[in-house]
Amino acid sequence: MARYEVALDWVGGPSRTIDVDENETVLEASQRTGRSLPYGCRTGACGTCVGRLLAIDGTAADDDARDEEPTNVADAFAYRRTPKALKSRHRDDGYVLLCIAAPRTDCRIAVGSRVQAELVDNPWK
Ligand code: FES
Repeated sequence: MARYEVALDWVGGPSRTIDVDENETVLEASQRTGRSLPYGCRTGACGTCVGRLLAIDGTAADDDARDEEPTNVADAFAYRRTPKALKSRHRDDGYVLLCIAAPRTDCRIAVGSRVQAELVDNPWK
């Protein structure tokens, strides 16, 4: 079974790298390793667990790829089910639902409630 290194960057906070099995979601691996991430439904419907893909490791060997925006979620994750909480423009912008996404490469993700705030207008602020 393949394992991947997934770096979790809390916006404005620490960065931690966890090993994630190919059949495991990032949320499951984070809980297994004691790195808590926000979550709600665990079915891809609420968006609470959203992260934003920052980089796909392994592309750095290609100098041309280094300058590109490494936000193609489909290259980095396999979804267990349809990510209903994300619009297509969100997926195009690199947002990924960590409760249903299993990695297919080493990668770096921005995580935490501030990433969710990028997606949802807060009526209270
Ligand atoms: S926890 Fe609801 S979409 Fe992931």
